[in-house]
Amino acid sequence: MWFFTAPKIVFGAGAIEFLASLPTKKAMIVCDRFLAEQGTYKPVQEQLEKAGASVKVFGEVEPEPHITTVSSGLKIARAFEPDTIVGLGGGSAMDMAKAIYALYERPDLTIYDLTPIVDLNLGKKARLIQVPTTSGTGAETTWATIITEGEGGRKLELAHRDLIAQWAVLDPMFPSSMPPKLTADTGADALAHSIESISSQWSNPFSDAMGMKAVDTIFRYLPKAVKGQPVPSEVREELHLAAAMAGLSFGNAQIGIGHALGHAFGSVFKVPHGRTVGLFLPYHIEFNFAAARDKFARLSPVLGDSTVRNARDLSAKVRSLWDQIGMSKTIPEATKVTEKEFEEKLPELVERADSSTGLVANARVPTSQELERILRAAWSGAPVDF
Ligand SMILES: [Fe+2]
Repeated sequence: MWFFTAPKIVFGAGAIEFLASLPTKKAMIVCDRFLAEQGTYKPVQEQLEKAGASVKVFGEVEPEPHITTVSSGLKIARAFEPDTIVGLGGGSAMDMAKAIYALYERPDLTIYDLTPIVDLNLGKKARLIQVPTTSGTGAETTWATIITEGEGGRKLELAHRDLIAQWAVLDPMFPSSMPPKLTADTGADALAHSIESISSQWSNPFSDAMGMKAVDTIFRYLPKAVKGQPVPSEVREELHLAAAMAGLSFGNAQIGIGHALGHAFGSVFKVPHGRTVGLFLPYHIEFNFAAARDKFARLSPVLGDSTVRNARDLSAKVRSLWDQIGMSKTIPEATKVTEKEFEEKLPELVERADSSTGLVANARVPTSQELERILRAAWSGAPVDF
């Protein structure tokens, strides 16, 4: 038995106006500090007020959101008692909104209960709406939330079907102000979601359909979005939809070793998520190709006839896209870490990647030696044959 789960999706120019049509009395907007300072939440607030709601803004979300911020937001939610919670921003803000929403609904639970095996039964007090401002994380359509705990930056990889928003509002107005570097990083993340989910053991016809459309769109439009001055609005819109489709793909089929390594590397060396998963995407392909040849071959018609004959064909295609958009292909390009620091941290990187949920449905189970081999190869960016 298989499931395909998704929020209801409102998309296109002016999609944000949908919020004015919702019966809402009290709405809480969860966003990061930068968006709060820039006033990016104001168009959302305006639409909610048109619906007759009083609005509270919780603009305290930090990158890699911490469990203590969940507590702060929850305190506000419990005092304010919203009937609508809106996550506004990139993955951090939307993940935070999921965690606050769940624990506001269920004060009897702790954050550690947000797993697929617990019956959450949410939606009794409020609705969750996600409004992404970047085109990459797919958090607006997925069931996962990543929250950091402790001093060492340990990541809690939480997930439950009830954490999927009731509505995802995809308005290209928000990503239109993304600078080229952020456009490249977030677009690389969306491509990694698509390719990793297509090659996952849990890929299925619905997730494949979403993933393949996203791959096609990203290869077609991401260079234009990074280089365009200004970026045509249809390009922004296509990529905004592709990121949500990539989210639907991996949200229903899982990510893989590329994200396992990316999460490990990003948490140890504090590198933006899209840059690290972009770094490891070519290795995801090279490591998994033999085990998931038929799945990768589905990308042939998307990328051009007979493109995907072997691992090197496809990984070269990704590396070529990275060249076009200025994405890092080696560790020294992605971060200032020295070779000595990298060598010292190698055992921890291997251990973190090895324990990541990103490996649960990966096409092959890597050994510690294979994880280390990929990490070492990423120092120079050299392809690896498996
Ligand atoms: Fe990602």
